[in-house]
Amino acid sequence: MTTKRPNFFYHLHPPTLPARESRFGYTFGLGGISLLLFLVLGVTGVLEMFLYVPTPAGAAESVRQITYLAPFGWLLRNMHYWGGQMMVGAVALHMARVVLSGGYKGRRFNWLIGMALLVLTLLLDFTGYVLRWDQDTAIALVTGTNLINAVPGIGPMLYRLVIGGAAVGQATLLRFYAWHVLGLVSVAAVLIVWHSFRVRRDGGISHREPAPGPASRVGREQLVKTELVAALLTLVVLVGLSVAVDAPLGPAADLTVLAAELRAPWFFLWIQELLRSAPPFLAGVLAPLAVLLLLSVLPYALDREQAGVGEWFNRPGRAAQGVFLAVLITVIALTARGLLR
Ligand code: HEM
Repeated sequence: MTTKRPNFFYHLHPPTLPARESRFGYTFGLGGISLLLFLVLGVTGVLEMFLYVPTPAGAAESVRQITYLAPFGWLLRNMHYWGGQMMVGAVALHMARVVLSGGYKGRRFNWLIGMALLVLTLLLDFTGYVLRWDQDTAIALVTGTNLINAVPGIGPMLYRLVIGGAAVGQATLLRFYAWHVLGLVSVAAVLIVWHSFRVRRDGGISHREPAPGPASRVGREQLVKTELVAALLTLVVLVGLSVAVDAPLGPAADLTVLAAELRAPWFFLWIQELLRSAPPFLAGVLAPLAVLLLLSVLPYALDREQAGVGEWFNRPGRAAQGVFLAVLITVIALTARGLLR
């Protein structure tokens, strides 16, 4: 008789689990989808590294070569680009599912790891966007990093640290490249493993109390089946988008020519909209930090109750749900206003 050695797969997939945990209609597989997209981004990103040139003179041209000259380079680049946009969406929806179903109850530390993953996902998308080094991305970088200068006292020192000198140039691109392909990815990979590990440590995916009896439990193959369906759907959407719509690429950046009206990447458009009506430090630094802090403390300050775990729109979690939805709707409305300009 063979005995199965314990491993990470079995840790995440116990022999039996409550039926509801394994149902697509509860988690929508969104955590797993975020993980799958992270893996796809890793593979396509490593392949792009063989041709990408991280210099201001060569970056945009090398991206053009990947797109038009390398065999299936267009597909590779489009999958990396769309994978990044889909990951931001999947992580945000996963977070919404967790809040609205009381999934953070009894799992507050994992909520904080999740918050760190949200920040890392946005930073990965932004650093990747800059690597294109075309006119749009480089000017957005100049404007975005100028916000750091607005921090009182330590602003100028932080600015030099981020861009690697007195002005945006070769050192900046190299720094963003290193953070994108190594620094941020490594930290995100470690946190994703920890986050997944904690799901089981916290008693598995949230379920209604009291925990269901043996009759409502299913085998691990049910969970694997749900994961496979979610993975297949994600890949179909990702490949479909990548075949249908090309990732953007403009002319190589010329930092001496400032664009009249530049647009931030879509996931930071809400900050750009705030900047139109408030001073840079308030709108570009304090407001985003306040939003992150507010979301981080939701399970600590607004809903410390275990009751309602695993229940959509549970009563004890109403205040937390209200604050989360207010933040989400404001961000979506500002983003839409930015897109429609
Ligand atoms: C790279 C990003 C992320 C990945 C790969 C990821 C992955 C996962 C996975 C695989 C699960 C279990 C299945 C599921 O609930 O769908 C999970 C659960 C969870 N995640 Fe995430 N997650 C990410 C981001 C976040 C964010 C941004 C938050 C919130 C701030 C968060 C908070 C949680 C919590 C509290 C649970 C337990 C939920 C429950 O038991 O119902 N995660 N995550």
